[in-house]
Parts: sequence; structure tokens; C-alpha cells
Amino acid sequence: MKRIVSGIKPTGELTLGNYLGAMRRWGEMSANPDHEHFFFVPNLHALTVRPEPKTLHTDSRAAVAWLLAMGVDHDHSYIFMQSQVPAHSELTWILNNYTTMGELNRMTQFKDKALKSGAEGQLVGLYDYPVLMAADILLYDADEVPVGEDQKQHVELTRDIATRFNNLHGDVFRVPQPTVQSEGARIMNLQDPAKKMSKSDTDDSGNILLTDDEKTIVKKISRAVTDSGSVVSTGADKPALTNLLTIHSILAGKSIEELEAAYAGKGYGAFKEDLADIVVETLAPLQKHYHQLMSEGNTKIDQALEHGWWRASELANAKLAQVKEILGLF
Ligand code: TYM
Repeated sequence: MKRIVSGIKPTGELTLGNYLGAMRRWGEMSANPDHEHFFFVPNLHALTVRPEPKTLHTDSRAAVAWLLAMGVDHDHSYIFMQSQVPAHSELTWILNNYTTMGELNRMTQFKDKALKSGAEGQLVGLYDYPVLMAADILLYDADEVPVGEDQKQHVELTRDIATRFNNLHGDVFRVPQPTVQSEGARIMNLQDPAKKMSKSDTDDSGNILLTDDEKTIVKKISRAVTDSGSVVSTGADKPALTNLLTIHSILAGKSIEELEAAYAGKGYGAFKEDLADIVVETLAPLQKHYHQLMSEGNTKIDQALEHGWWRASELANAKLAQVKEILGLF
């Protein structure tokens, strides 16, 4: 049976980037009974930003609620909390011995984050982050890992680690394939289109949060930076409009060319108004479902975690036992 694995890190509120680059198809995908889907909450990865414990707890449950609200809610799809399956941590230690510092030095996410923080922020956890990700994926013999563009390099490293291990020890791990959507794989910040929309930003003015209400969405989109000129079109010299058109195109199910034609001669104002409407319309039913789940005293969230934990543990523990036996660990 084909397995699909991906995760949403609980560091701050989820953004429209997470939705468009990754989660928007997860509900529909997970309805396929011929595949097993594991969508988990990598709360151990979140420790790399040392969140407030209470915030981490709330964000983690919120991530589960979003997954359910997106429609990941079937007997054969599983949501779980990474920290509840200790095999992730144990396999990470093992895989650390199959990963070189040279490989980790090349990870662009680490380079970006390490550059932003001083020596104090250059944590071993941040450096080792991609190896924990490799463990997340390899424990489940994932065939596919649906991610946005920024995580592709990590999945490629996972492939290298798996191949190296297999070459030395036989056919132990399935080598996974990253699946990156052709549209929306890299949604940019509305205030700075050179930077990706990110939930860990402290300033949210350029990020549309999945919980933003109508007023906030309208405000953020109307204030989004635009490029010089007034023609609604994409282009290398139009990073802001390219980003806004991409968002509009995905949500409206129309091609960029159709939208360019529809807004010819209309200017940025009308375009932004319609974009705000379509973002609001798309998020409204998901938000309703999300708020309902969050206010239900967590019953549905707990049930989903219990169901996911059971199956995830079964697979992860079996894979870890196999690896330990091969390596002479007991
Ligand atoms: P995270 O939580 O940062 O993001 C979750 C998913 O959303 C995608 N994404 C975006 N896509 C388009 N535009 C954006 N601006 C944007 N921002 C985020 C991400 O690519 C991702 O697919 N390390 C991972 C979590 C993780 C994981 C895993 C994923 C841990 N272990 C194993 C897959 C498999 C992360 O921080 O994603």
C-alpha cells in the first residue's frame, strides 16, 4: 500500500502559504482508501525556536484541528503528535551516523536561520533538524512526501540518507519522493515578496493567517505592496503581482492569463478587492470547522490523535526494531 507522509510544525499560526503550498490537497488526498496517509505535528522540531510550553501545546492542538478541518478525517488516514512516538528521536540518533556535516552545512534553511541568529541561536537541534525529518519519513516507508518548495531539499537529503543506509545494510528504507505542487509551492510575504510567507514571523502584516477574520484579510491585501506601474500582470520585474496573481489563480481555479485579461485596464484596486473576497470565501468554511473543533473541549482532537498514534506507533516501532537488529543494538 502506498504511504504518504507530511507534517505541519506547530510554531505560530498557520498561514495561507501552508494551505496553498501543502495542506489544501490533503483532505481530498486522504480520502483515497488505497493509500495510507500520515499527517503529523512535528512538535519536537518546534523546540528549535524554544516556544513557550503553553503556546507549543496550544499550537500543536490547533494544527490537529486544522488538519481535521481540511478533511483529513478518515479511518485510513492518521494524524499524530511526533513526540508521542519516541521512535522518531531514537532513529534520529541512529541516522546521525549516516549523515555528514557537509550535507547539513548545505541545507539552505539552516544557513538562513543560522545567519539570522547569533552564536547563541545556532543550536545543535537546528543543525540536526533535517535528520529528525529524515527519521519522520523513513520510519513509515513513505512513498511520497507532499511539501512546499522550502522543504524539498530536506526530502532530498532524506533520500540520500536512506540510500546510503540501504547500500550498507540491505533494503531497509523505502526511498521517498518529494511531491511539490506546480502552483503555490512558494507563497511570498505580502509586505516583502522577496521573502516567503512564514508562520514564525513576529510581524504578521505580510502573512495571511488561516484564522484571520474578514476585516483583517481585506486590510492585509489592500495594504500588500505592489510593483511599479498599474497593469495586473506577472513578470520577473513584478514579484509582488506575481505572488498575488498566483494566490488568486489557485483559489479561483483560473489561469494567470485569464486573470490578466480579466483585469486589463482595471488597475490594482479592483484586483485586490476581488482577491480579498476569494480568500475570505475560501477560508470561511474551514475556519468555521476549525473553531467548532477547538471549542468542543478537544474530544475530536483527542480521538484523532489516539487513532493516529496507534497506527503510527505500530509502524514506527516495527521499523525501529528492524534497524536496531541490523545494527547489533539490543
Ligand atoms: P512547515 O510547518 O514550515 O510548513 C508546512 C508545509 O507548508 C509548506 N509551506 C509553504 N508552501 C508554500 N508557500 C509558503 N510560504 C510556505 N510556507 C510553508 C512547507 O513547505 C510544508 O510543506 N520541516 C517541516 C515540517 C516537517 C515535515 C517532516 C514535513 C517535519 N518533519 C516530514 C514533511 C515530512 C516544516 O517546518 O514545515
